[in-house]
Amino acid sequence: MQAYTEFIDEVLYDEAAIRNRVAQIAAEIDHQYAGQDLLLVCLLRGGLTFTADLSRQISLPHELDCMSLSSYGVGHYASSGNVRVNLDLLTNIEGRHVLLVEDIVDSGRTLAHVLSMLRTREPQSVRVCVLLDKKMRREVPVQVDYVGFDVPDKYVFGYGIDIDERFRHLPFIATADLAKYQPPAR
Ligand code: IMP
Ligand code: MG
Repeated sequence: MQAYTEFIDEVLYDEAAIRNRVAQIAAEIDHQYAGQDLLLVCLLRGGLTFTADLSRQISLPHELDCMSLSSYGVGHYASSGNVRVNLDLLTNIEGRHVLLVEDIVDSGRTLAHVLSMLRTREPQSVRVCVLLDKKMRREVPVQVDYVGFDVPDKYVFGYGIDIDERFRHLPFIATADLAKYQPPAR
């Protein structure tokens, strides 16, 4: 099993930088949703760490729910855009203010798909909060209301974001040198 130190390129954001940025976003959310009934929707599994930290920094009372999606088809270290729902919300979102919390927006296909699906359920509003935005990779226009950080067109991992389901536990966000990376033999 390879250690991340063997393929890490650089740490983009350390624990303190992430904590500060999450607190700023939480303050914006507190401001924007003041007096409203907010539902945070975590997109599993990449959004888990971010959602947990964000939720605890938001002062407004709010509810939490989760969805799990996977993209299938071509493309190993990027999204194919064919999105399948593995786990749907338990909450009825009709008339609710929904804020989707996602790890990364890349092509935009995943979020575009979820947004169009959730809108058919007639929420009062749906907004999007992403930790990382790979802007230069966008193929489908998607409105992102809150962004943690812009990142370059490189594979990133840590703080909830995996490589082959590993390294989500790392407290920082780093880029990987995929030429040095060896997938686990399972
Ligand atoms: P999109 O549908 O192309 O916008 O892809 C978004 C999804 O692709 C994210 O939710 C991630 O799961 C995954 N993804 C995109 N870039 C990266 C990356 O650099 N590291 C890990 N996962 C990524
Ligand atoms: Mg994801």
